[in-house]
Amino acid sequence: MTAVPFVTGSNPSPRVYIKTYGCQMNEYDSAKMADVLARSHGYRRTEHAEEADLLLLNTCSVREKAQEKVFSELGRWKSWKAEKPGRLIGVGGCVASQEGEDLARRAPMVDVIFGPQTLHRLPELLEQARARRAPAVDIRFPEIEKFDNLPEPRAEGPTAYVSIMEGCSRYCTFCIVPYTRGEEVSRPLDDVLAECARLVEQNVHEITLLGQNVNAYRGRIHGHTGEQGTCDLALLIDHLAQLDGLERIRFMTSHPVEFSDSLIKVYAEQPKLASFLHLPVQSGSDRILAMMKRGHTRAQYLEKIKRVREVRPDLSLSSDFIVGFPTETEDDFQATLDLVEHAQFDTAFCFLYSPRPGTPAASLRDTVSADDRQRRLQALQARLREQDDRFRQKLLGTVQRVLVERPSVRGAGQLAGRTSSNRWLNFDGPAALLGRFADVTVTEVLRNSLRGQWVQTVDAVAA
Ligand code: SAM
Ligand code: F3S
Repeated sequence: MTAVPFVTGSNPSPRVYIKTYGCQMNEYDSAKMADVLARSHGYRRTEHAEEADLLLLNTCSVREKAQEKVFSELGRWKSWKAEKPGRLIGVGGCVASQEGEDLARRAPMVDVIFGPQTLHRLPELLEQARARRAPAVDIRFPEIEKFDNLPEPRAEGPTAYVSIMEGCSRYCTFCIVPYTRGEEVSRPLDDVLAECARLVEQNVHEITLLGQNVNAYRGRIHGHTGEQGTCDLALLIDHLAQLDGLERIRFMTSHPVEFSDSLIKVYAEQPKLASFLHLPVQSGSDRILAMMKRGHTRAQYLEKIKRVREVRPDLSLSSDFIVGFPTETEDDFQATLDLVEHAQFDTAFCFLYSPRPGTPAASLRDTVSADDRQRRLQALQARLREQDDRFRQKLLGTVQRVLVERPSVRGAGQLAGRTSSNRWLNFDGPAALLGRFADVTVTEVLRNSLRGQWVQTVDAVAA
């Protein structure tokens, strides 16, 4: 790659501003875009769009609202582009993947369009756009090529995300992801272990393994004699747990069908696996689950969480729900409320169903009125908030082991750490605690956070 920075005027070090919408996979991808551009053209990331030479939008198309935001943001950027000659605009992520060349027609100010699997080609695409004075587009799904072409991972603090697979092959009828991110492809075991080891060398103590359907991970294992089978998520967690200095492992997002016995076994046996599980259920009605093609019943879901709680009684359970799926009746919705009562979630996300063009559910006749949808959303949110409050109240007076991630936004001298159950806890403590584990007693449960008192610092710990 020729290192010709896209410098405008006399600015010696070009700046890139990246705006990210959507999930943790997109956060991870944005960090990788910054790394790729730093390596190729010396770009530095800035938080101020006005000073950037390159503006990147990493998009999400899971719901219509997220997609609309892309076009309003680009509208704003259009005038900025005119202000600074040579300034470039790129759009990546799922909207780019879905719209491809159409995006260039709809938003002619865009210079580069790339998908989640081609972000490693950004430097070349920028060169192309520059040279041709026309948009450069690459939204292919070249199998796993992306990971082979990324720079060495760079830690930013004591926690890190590591993407272990791309895409999803489950094709839930409402979901756009299999079309925008492609089918499931897992990274080979050795690659994942090497990336995690590099991060741990940089004092990372907690790693979250990422994938849209992360428990479908099947990484190739290479031995001295060539290929030697595949490794599932449970085995990967066991391998990672052997890394000295890595004390906490998380993963997301998992699908109930692939939530296997081997994973329940690691919850039972591996203390480095955090006491947290995000297991989206979407609905409590068997009829709606079948229409969504989720591949399981409510009873099967409840059975899986019962089994994992038997081996991890302090597990914090989280989920996703979709309200107002086409044809959802009052009875279906009651079944969802009933499942919430049985399952006892500690946190959960509820979304209004949003028809996504090209998905099977988008062609179903939508019978749920806007009023009913809103009412159901509010009722479900209220029920989940009660469970969330109950869970947080239970923490009062307990000692929680937190990984101290950053100074707290709540005030000078305060630190913020996350519990194994994925809750933020703020407390007074010396800056020397940053990046280390500490035991903290929960002294106050506030509306959106917890406050505590530092008990002791802990050096090598498990979850
Ligand atoms: N892989 C995950 C799983 O097992 O379900 C989900 C990934 S999806 C990107 C994140 C969440 O967005 C889903 O769990 C679902 O609740 C929500 N979602 C996806 N498509 C949606 C749609 N068309 N309308 C509303 N919410 C949607
Ligand atoms: Fe989407 Fe279902 Fe996969 S929600 S990401 S198609 S598991």
